[in-house]
Amino acid sequence: MKLKDLGLSSSDIKEKVSKYMIETYERMDFVCETAKDQYLYDESGEKYLDFYAGIAVNSAGSCNDKVVEAVIDQVKDVMHTFNYPYTIPQALLAEKVCTAIGMDKIFFQNSGTEANEAMIKMARKYGIEKYGPNKYHIVTAKNGFHGRTFGAMSATGQPGNGCQVGFGPMTYGFSYAPYNDLKAFKDACTENTIGIMIEPVQGEGGVHPATQEFMTGLREFCDEKGILLLIDEVQTGWCRTGKIMSYMHYGIKPDIVSMAKALGGGMPIGAICATEEVAKAFSAGSHGTTFGGHPVSCAAALAEVDELLGRNLADNAAKMGDYFKDKLSKLPHVKEVRGQGLLVGVEFDDNVAGVEVKHECINRHLLITAIGAHTIRMVPPLIISKEDCDEAFEIIKASVEAVA
Ligand SMILES: Cc1ncc(COP(=O)(O)O)c(C=O)c1O
Repeated sequence: MKLKDLGLSSSDIKEKVSKYMIETYERMDFVCETAKDQYLYDESGEKYLDFYAGIAVNSAGSCNDKVVEAVIDQVKDVMHTFNYPYTIPQALLAEKVCTAIGMDKIFFQNSGTEANEAMIKMARKYGIEKYGPNKYHIVTAKNGFHGRTFGAMSATGQPGNGCQVGFGPMTYGFSYAPYNDLKAFKDACTENTIGIMIEPVQGEGGVHPATQEFMTGLREFCDEKGILLLIDEVQTGWCRTGKIMSYMHYGIKPDIVSMAKALGGGMPIGAICATEEVAKAFSAGSHGTTFGGHPVSCAAALAEVDELLGRNLADNAAKMGDYFKDKLSKLPHVKEVRGQGLLVGVEFDDNVAGVEVKHECINRHLLITAIGAHTIRMVPPLIISKEDCDEAFEIIKASVEAVA
């Protein structure tokens, strides 16, 4: 849709949103009318360099030609039919994902939080059926983020903080331990524990990668105790960190992994992959979804995965991530540059508020996000070049100088 064709202005759009929508988002002050690759455009053709990619979604670029083509083709063939008849894109995507990441089985959902609900449900059902009714407890990381539905929100280790505030009691059965603290995780497990659930890089929590010791230690501990290792790759998955899945950096495998965001190339999709044994916990009627595995989303995901793997965008994410992080470490007032591939965080000293840097960057047409008091986060499309990193660096530098 184009404003000109509708006889509307950007102010009309903002007014309608303000009047009719329940607003929970801090909006950037422009209407995104079109998007292509690493750029968003407003109605007058003003260009914005997009280093948040729909929050780590448009990894092969916005409106990627192959993804768009796949969506249009599939829309004409079958748009929706529920999960009773077999559908072609779903079967092909199931094979492609399981093969690419070396897991046995997949279950499709619509989003990251739903994928995590499925992961929690599957772990509990596996535990309860195998060991008895008390085997439901899951340990997750403090300062983590797993989504905004009740199970995923309860798994989010920010008790009384962040997304949990004002929503009353959380779902019973979760404990939280400090991230990267292996001993604390072991101590938090009880005889009722069936799962340890973590992000390999805490994204929303400020871009904190897991240490090798933590990840291998958790895998060994889980194997020893019969606990499932549940890895949330909603933000890190599908090449963002320089490997298809972030857990691949650590030479370990999860029992269940959740994914969403980049998988659909801009169409909504989520999924969990599990080992054959754990996947048996779900059988006819035990879990379901109307839209999960939607043919159009699956067709988009097939094209997106082909683009990500075929163009080796994991490799570009690794190279550009190193290049960008190196540059960012030369910014004024930097305390720490963290990340994995193109999931990048910059923490500034007390003189620089992350949110102010973000606003200055947006005013200069670089789109980024801020986390906490002093950190900015960037999750650009994985197609970016050194020139894009250089341009982003200059804008961030000018923004830091303006706010410090
Ligand atoms: C690690 C992680 N898990 C889960 C979610 C929730 O995903 P969604 O917003 O698709 O529900 C997010 C979203 O940012 C995330 O970063």
